[in-house]
Amino acid sequence: MLLSRPPIAARCPSPLIYIPKTCDQNRENVQELDAILVLDFGGQYCHLIARRVRECGVYSETVPHDISLPQMKRLGQRFRVRGLILSGGPSSVYEKKAPECDVRILQLGVPVLGICYGHELIARLFGGEVRPASTKEFGSSLAFIDKPVGLMEGLDKVEKVWMSHSDSVFRLPSEWEVLAHTENSPVAAFKHVTKPVFGVQWHPEVVHTEKGLRILENFVLRICDCTPGRTMQSFVRNAVEEIKQMAGDDRCIVALSGGVDSSTATVLASKAVGDNLVAVFVDHGFMREGEPEFVERTFRGFPMRLMVVDARNRFLRSLKGVRDPERKRSIIGREFIRVFEDVSRKVKARHLVQGTIHPDRIESGLTRRSERIKTHHNVAGLPAKVKFKTIIEPLRDLYKDEVRKVAEELGLPREIIRRQPFPGPGLAVRICGEITREKVKVARRADRIVTEEIEKAGLAEGLWQYFAVLTDTRSTGVKGDSRAYGYTVAIRAVESEEAMTAKFARIPYETLEKASTRITNEVPQVTRVAYDISHKPPATIEWE
Ligand code: XMP
Repeated sequence: MLLSRPPIAARCPSPLIYIPKTCDQNRENVQELDAILVLDFGGQYCHLIARRVRECGVYSETVPHDISLPQMKRLGQRFRVRGLILSGGPSSVYEKKAPECDVRILQLGVPVLGICYGHELIARLFGGEVRPASTKEFGSSLAFIDKPVGLMEGLDKVEKVWMSHSDSVFRLPSEWEVLAHTENSPVAAFKHVTKPVFGVQWHPEVVHTEKGLRILENFVLRICDCTPGRTMQSFVRNAVEEIKQMAGDDRCIVALSGGVDSSTATVLASKAVGDNLVAVFVDHGFMREGEPEFVERTFRGFPMRLMVVDARNRFLRSLKGVRDPERKRSIIGREFIRVFEDVSRKVKARHLVQGTIHPDRIESGLTRRSERIKTHHNVAGLPAKVKFKTIIEPLRDLYKDEVRKVAEELGLPREIIRRQPFPGPGLAVRICGEITREKVKVARRADRIVTEEIEKAGLAEGLWQYFAVLTDTRSTGVKGDSRAYGYTVAIRAVESEEAMTAKFARIPYETLEKASTRITNEVPQVTRVAYDISHKPPATIEWE
């Protein structure tokens, strides 16, 4: 297979080094936006690459690995593409359907860095030899830096790196040089002698690669010569531009829940389309106590039309008799979109703006080859056909902490920026088994108590989320002098950086005791309270 494919130079006769004038020179500020594009080959850590580039102070987005040249040029209207990173991926470059990219993209003249699969792909496309390694390398490994220049500048002779690969590059054609090797990979990092094309077998984006950030900085700041800017400021400019382009002169609605993601998406959309935006808050009946009032109070003051839709009966009816968590999630996703479609018909809107963030897409299995963990209501929970011209998701590449920075940049109130995340389906994913009116009431009252006690104890700031779960387990208790048979409530409190992993929080027993006593005293249907001491993984944060 390897031999049957001519190297890139043979397939593309002109060794074109063409620096694209990617940006519309007339558009205000656009040429200031340096960006690195990450081509997603389905790697487990792909999403981390763009995040780390943004940590270097430079704007970055992930795009599908098979992005076409015209699509790429269109992106050039939004920012100046200063470099490309080809991510890792689970395939072998010599497999029949191994994912590739349009080779013309690699020849645009902007610097290219291949990581893991990307490293192997570049080697193969340019005529190098890639084959299965006799010893696969997974986990921590030592890299021997042969030439501490360019990508490897500032690295020691031996570096601790994180590897995860079955294939290796064994030979490079002339004009290419080896920058590093490991015990089992003779070509663990390489560069072209004159062109800015690099490959690295290990994962610089993973924190276990000790100088990983330095390697990415070398690429982004030195090789690509990007100007570090205020990335969140650039992000805002860019996102507003993107929404403008997608919406044109059409009216849009934005799904507003009052959380930081949807509030940020709302403000971005408002900046982009002004009076053409209608913010829609759907009360599905699974809100925390005081939530609908909070959203109305907060957003009535914003410069946009706000519609509050009471859909409580509709949601409860559609979930009658449903016990399976994934079915619940997809019904909720479907009902949400139907409500938004009804509203859009009334207000004549053609686009739906949502505050979907990157982890929602990863867990919903929507990035290439990522496994579906749970269907986030606003992602894979959407029905196959929706009556919108487009669904616009300006935050789709960001993590929660980055969204908070964007929200700060936009001047959103601190009360919204610091709010703990609350899932779109609300208490419905915190009530196990069938959802009934009574169970919603019990969950809401227990949740209020947990929230109050954790906040009173001054613990809220250090926690990612804290809430009550109404489990489907009943148990015997004794209340007064009588036997009681009631619900079991679980308290969940976790610490996390971005919700992809989480640790249960070591809440002091006194706080747990106060919450437990209050729940069993103030909520008559509950006889027992448990504390959830599971990390994510293997558990998830929400129970359903
Ligand atoms: P899990 O339970 O997957 O949750 O560990 C990770 C983060 O995502 C939130 N979450 C959701 N947010 N729609 C949302 O808007 C959903 O369907 C959804 N499910 C989970 C959860 O609260 C946590 O912050």
